[in-house]
Amino acid sequence: MSNSAALAPSSRAAVFLAFSLICFSSHVLAAGHPHYADALAKSLLFFQGQRSGRLPPDQAVKWRSNSAMSDGSAANVDLTGGYYDGGNNVKFNFPMAFTATMLSWSIIEYGGRMEGRVHDARAAVRWATDYLLKSAMTTPGKLYVGVGDADADHRCWERPEDMDTPRDVHAVSASAPGSDVAGETAAALAAASVVFRAADPAYSRRLVAAARDVMALAWRHQGKYSDHVGGGVSNYYPSYSGYKDELLWGSAWLLWATKNSSYLNDLISLGANDDVDVFSWDNKLAGARVLLSRRALLDGDKRLEPFTRQAEELICHILPNSSSPSSTTAYTPGGLMHRRGNVNMQYAASASFLLTTYAKYMAASHRRAFSCQSHGVTHRALRALAKRQVDYVLGDNPLGMSYMVGYGAR
Ligand SMILES: *[C@@H]1O[C@H](CO)[C@@H](O)[C@H](O)[C@H]1NC(C)=O
Ligand SMILES: *[C@@H]1O[C@H](CO)[C@@H](O)[C@H](O)[C@H]1NC(C)=O
Repeated sequence: MSNSAALAPSSRAAVFLAFSLICFSSHVLAAGHPHYADALAKSLLFFQGQRSGRLPPDQAVKWRSNSAMSDGSAANVDLTGGYYDGGNNVKFNFPMAFTATMLSWSIIEYGGRMEGRVHDARAAVRWATDYLLKSAMTTPGKLYVGVGDADADHRCWERPEDMDTPRDVHAVSASAPGSDVAGETAAALAAASVVFRAADPAYSRRLVAAARDVMALAWRHQGKYSDHVGGGVSNYYPSYSGYKDELLWGSAWLLWATKNSSYLNDLISLGANDDVDVFSWDNKLAGARVLLSRRALLDGDKRLEPFTRQAEELICHILPNSSSPSSTTAYTPGGLMHRRGNVNMQYAASASFLLTTYAKYMAASHRRAFSCQSHGVTHRALRALAKRQVDYVLGDNPLGMSYMVGYGAR
């Protein structure tokens, strides 16, 4: 991994934790279970702490005030708003858009169980998508992909309210293509359009129209944004996995948002069938497979059955070797998935999201079990493993310590 992994482990892990917590938020607080509703509320508060731009009157994190109010001025455009990256003041649209996509997917699947928090969760999505809409729609033919100079920013420890580091503007276009960042931005806009379909239909239509344009740019002009964009993104958030995964993921979200089967033809034509066992801001293949299996399992769309098979192979890699002979995932003695020496929680959290979500699709389609070689796997087993991961993060671990900032006694 690059030095990006060393930037801000705790804050970035907290962002990713939100996705999985949301899955469990409505469980009744019973003896021995963490307080999921409290954890959900705090993970949503985290997003307020990361807000850039002009803050609204209902901002609950009061120590944050307006910042980066002239973002975009280097290109004579308005790019205020959005979120800072974990632990620094750069706006990196590539991981920001992924975060927005995952928040939206969480709301789509589990919003009905978030009780009073669904409004805050939608607000967290909208803070990203308002900015991503500006990034997509301000200059025809261009997609802005970030503001700031990552190297200068990382040399200087300042609050965003006080910062005096350069606010360079970065963009992709036909002559400087970035299908990775464009595909992820399209995914975020399309997923959010589903979230707002009933809550704000006009906003939803704007989102889906922008998603279409950005996805068309991603397909028509293919390339990796880190080959064309400066500002240090190639040292922090290049797409190591290339851009095919974002073309698949973006098209899968557009298929859902528009029901236009041309996206189905596009995504099948990709043949993106590499074996994966991880889901992250970099590689979206795993998420796309689970997302597409929804349509295969719930809507009986036979053309998507290969994605169900791939999703199940992926899960066989994630399960511990005691329940899956094809496991490729190590677990610590305390039971936490262990992928990397640093920023590990994001991988445990994103894998947990896929486990509960696939379990949900299985249950809804009466698919009781599948097998990892000869070992049968039920949706209950997937949920139990995901719960184990989330509980570990919240303090059910050998040190009895919460790994979520602000949650738990220690
Ligand atoms: C479906 O999408 C394709 C490609 O973006 C477009 O050319 C076509 O007009 C769309 N069809 C409908 C019915 O919107
Ligand atoms: C199974 O996983 C455990 C924990 O990750 C590891 O210690 C052990 O070596 C693995 N066993 C096999 C047969 O791979």
